[in-house]
Amino acid sequence: MVSAGQNPVIENTVPFCEIAPEKFDIEPFTLVIFGGTGDLSRRKLLPTLFHLCHDQNLPEEFSIIGVGSTERSDDDYRLFVKRAIEEYSEETIHWPCWERFSRKLFYVSGRFDDRNSYKKLSERLAELAKPAVRGTKEVIYYMAVPPQFLSDIIEGLSQCNLCKGTFNTRLVVEKPFGHDRKSAGELNTLIAKAFDEKQIYRIDHYLGKETVQNILFFRFANSIFEPLWSRRYIDHVQLTVAESIGVENRARFYEKAGVVRDIVQNHMMQLLSLVAMEPPIGFEADYIRDEKVKVYRTMRMMDNEYIDRFTVRGQYGAGEITEKKVPAYRDEKDIAPNSNTSTFFAGKLYIDNWRWAGVPFYLRTGKRLKKRITEISIHFKQPPLKLFSTVCEIREPNTLVLGVQPQEKIILHFGVKHPGIGNQLYPVNMNFNYGSDFPGAVHFPQPYERLLLDCMKGDQTLFARQDGIEAMWAVVDPIIKRWEENPATEFPNYIAGTWGPGIAEELIGSEGRQWRIW
Ligand code: BG6
Repeated sequence: MVSAGQNPVIENTVPFCEIAPEKFDIEPFTLVIFGGTGDLSRRKLLPTLFHLCHDQNLPEEFSIIGVGSTERSDDDYRLFVKRAIEEYSEETIHWPCWERFSRKLFYVSGRFDDRNSYKKLSERLAELAKPAVRGTKEVIYYMAVPPQFLSDIIEGLSQCNLCKGTFNTRLVVEKPFGHDRKSAGELNTLIAKAFDEKQIYRIDHYLGKETVQNILFFRFANSIFEPLWSRRYIDHVQLTVAESIGVENRARFYEKAGVVRDIVQNHMMQLLSLVAMEPPIGFEADYIRDEKVKVYRTMRMMDNEYIDRFTVRGQYGAGEITEKKVPAYRDEKDIAPNSNTSTFFAGKLYIDNWRWAGVPFYLRTGKRLKKRITEISIHFKQPPLKLFSTVCEIREPNTLVLGVQPQEKIILHFGVKHPGIGNQLYPVNMNFNYGSDFPGAVHFPQPYERLLLDCMKGDQTLFARQDGIEAMWAVVDPIIKRWEENPATEFPNYIAGTWGPGIAEELIGSEGRQWRIW
């Protein structure tokens, strides 16, 4: 018994769980960025590296070598990087750190198909790479270049013995990883000649998003949702990756890629597998990736008839977004006036396994849609008896929403009795919002921050594995082929600033369901 005045020791309560900041175990490293002056480096990689340095997430000893074809000195490159940080940094810049960071920057100029470039790089590495605690020298090669340069670079590195042996190396490869299953397989074979799978980090920035990672925590660290997570209780699942931006300055890439290669094959497949996978046997890279691959392998293969009935393609025409006029896709800079590239995809997919048999997964993504929203929604079945149907004919089903962007949140919709003497059902929400539910001081790492650190630490969990990449292509290849063999005659078929072509509404509407509305 605790008497008054004593400090009560409260029993049976969960002790306050203070989560110590994660301790980073990053060895001294040298990061070599092929395409060190390209768009990705300027916009994302260099500002992110600077912030990591500023936030003291990088070790004392590190160096960054930009490799590019234009002649530049180290000092020129430092100026280039400073400008990139000024222009693209998303946070306030703390310049005192710049002095330290700039001393770590170096540049090697040369063509990717010229062996001399790799000799120069080799000399620079010999001079700059510092040994880690265990005596190895850690070198990361980041391929921030269009895919057509990969084979030259890998061959160049290989010929100069820069892949294995002298250094402990890792290779980071950006999407798109191939343009279909066959080319992805060929690329994997090419890379595998020089690097082991353990050294390869295939990046998909969606996996670095906080809420995307949270899907695993949410599903497998709580006991109340997982029992409901199956065909028994779930009517269908919706995945939306809506963008309000257009093709921007990436016309040449996008004309060849189109929406399926750009978003569905990678970002959407990753989201889908996190929602649908079985519990992994441990929280380690390969255990998680094994489960994800199983999802792709059990996805129902689509034949032409299925594709024609259950997928929708679209291309935006001129319209208005947030009261600003925007041009049609075909009128964008460097886009062919008769382009047949799709900027919108909607489709119904099935995962033919024990958990998901018969549950449709509706996917929708497009450019120049009304708003920027990435969201997964799980729509539960109606209760078996409509006890309240006499007073409320239309009942909203329970829905669980995992919002990825612009707000990172989780919402559960359910019905309550409206206060009053009547028996009125009323829909309400339980809300969790990352932004408002965590104290202001909590830092939300940008995807590249998280992914770069993971690569430096040698953690492959958030990177795609070879079999995963090929299995994702196997799902979308038939759609791409069918669409390419049958050019659309109706493009443009949606107005910029809307939710896409009307037939996308019919796709889901004809099955008695509807897309979520914002
Ligand atoms: C990229 C695509 O991978 O993802 C772009 O190539 C797209 O076309 C972008 O705009 C979307 O990323 P986010 O993080 O803005 O949703």
